[in-house]
Amino acid sequence: MRAYDIIKNKRDAKENTREEIEFMINGYLENRIPDYQVSSWLMAIFFNHLTEEESYNLTDVMLKSGDIIDLSRITGKKIDKHSTGGVGDKTTIAIAPMVASLGVKIAKLSGRSLGHTGGTIDKLESIPGFKTSLTTEEFFEIANNVGIVVAGQTGNIAPADKKLYSLRDSTATVEELSLIASSIMSKKLAINSDGILLDIKVGSGAFMKNIEDAKELGRIMLKIAKRYDKNTVALITNMDQPLGDNVGNALEVMEAIDTVKGKGPKDFSELCLEISSYMASLSGIITYEEAKKKLIENIERGIVKEKMKEWIKAQGGKEEVVDDPSKYLNISSKTLEFKAKEQGYITFIDTEKIGLASMVLGAGRQKKEDIIDKSVGLTINKKLGDKVEEGETIAKLFVSDNSDVDASLNLLNAAYNISKEKPKNINKNVILDVLFSNEKS
Ligand code: URA
Repeated sequence: MRAYDIIKNKRDAKENTREEIEFMINGYLENRIPDYQVSSWLMAIFFNHLTEEESYNLTDVMLKSGDIIDLSRITGKKIDKHSTGGVGDKTTIAIAPMVASLGVKIAKLSGRSLGHTGGTIDKLESIPGFKTSLTTEEFFEIANNVGIVVAGQTGNIAPADKKLYSLRDSTATVEELSLIASSIMSKKLAINSDGILLDIKVGSGAFMKNIEDAKELGRIMLKIAKRYDKNTVALITNMDQPLGDNVGNALEVMEAIDTVKGKGPKDFSELCLEISSYMASLSGIITYEEAKKKLIENIERGIVKEKMKEWIKAQGGKEEVVDDPSKYLNISSKTLEFKAKEQGYITFIDTEKIGLASMVLGAGRQKKEDIIDKSVGLTINKKLGDKVEEGETIAKLFVSDNSDVDASLNLLNAAYNISKEKPKNINKNVILDVLFSNEKS
């Protein structure tokens, strides 16, 4: 077998066989096939896409390139979740106690992402004492006793994806949907949960900019899930404005805490309720409708809040943070305001720029080595369709001495479109579509 022929087949829109995909991926991982040949192959895939069979084979080869995490030592049903990422996405922190309050377990490995704000792990580490680096024993014990554990990713999950992703990143081939689907699913399927909820975000603050691409990505991922008999739901969710009102690490934890107490912002609370209800229903022990009803009750009765405290305590954190977040979370007291220069209506938000405005304050990493400042970020006062008066506050900045405040204000200025005309047709729906793996396609 020669890499040359495999590239030529894909260039000519022929299907690569399992053996050919294995040859390319394993050869690349073991440094037998050079970057330039894999790059050409990726570009051929970019233009000709992967067939359903090829997407499955690529996923399978990548997932088998590393560790498989066996969750069978955790009793009961374990449901996993993946978000394609957005601005203000603190969902895992709020949904974990919601789902666990219904008797469904969350045993999750999470990352420290590059970009606007930290990943879930960075956010959780804003809680004093919270440990995200756990031994295998601790991980299983907490999952069994509390029903929730969220730890930093250790070990070697899908190393082939890691190597391939960095090559895609430097060869302008990241955007190909079939490659994205295989990349995400290779990592999710390496953890043997009982079901997966995919939160595919679409809009100005998301990787997917249009709904058709987001749905197509969902359909490809669900077909892969089906090959593994993995019960999976894909929610297509709106990222045309920041999720909730807070962006930044400790600020997002505060908002997640408010949400489990029933005091969160409307859009974020609705998203959490939907995600948690679908996740619980994937376990097969409760229907979506029953889960939703029960969750509303559990929030009202303080059961979700207590679950969150139990989880934080089990991972070494100060559980009192849930009762009094502003006392225990380190949120900068140095603030300033971004104000409207004119009166009008918010007609568009370039949400990615809001993420960057938070990042330049110190809330995110531009490079892997960067250290995040958990205390900085933004609170957003005005969202799509809102009326603003001249001089009214649109966002509040929480800054440190190292924050690039000018850059942040410039980004905020560029992010907001204000128009005299009251906008029509703004879609503020949080959930745009729901796709199921067990549906006929
Ligand atoms: N996230 C991933 O994990 N992989 C991709 O290819 C794109 C986004």
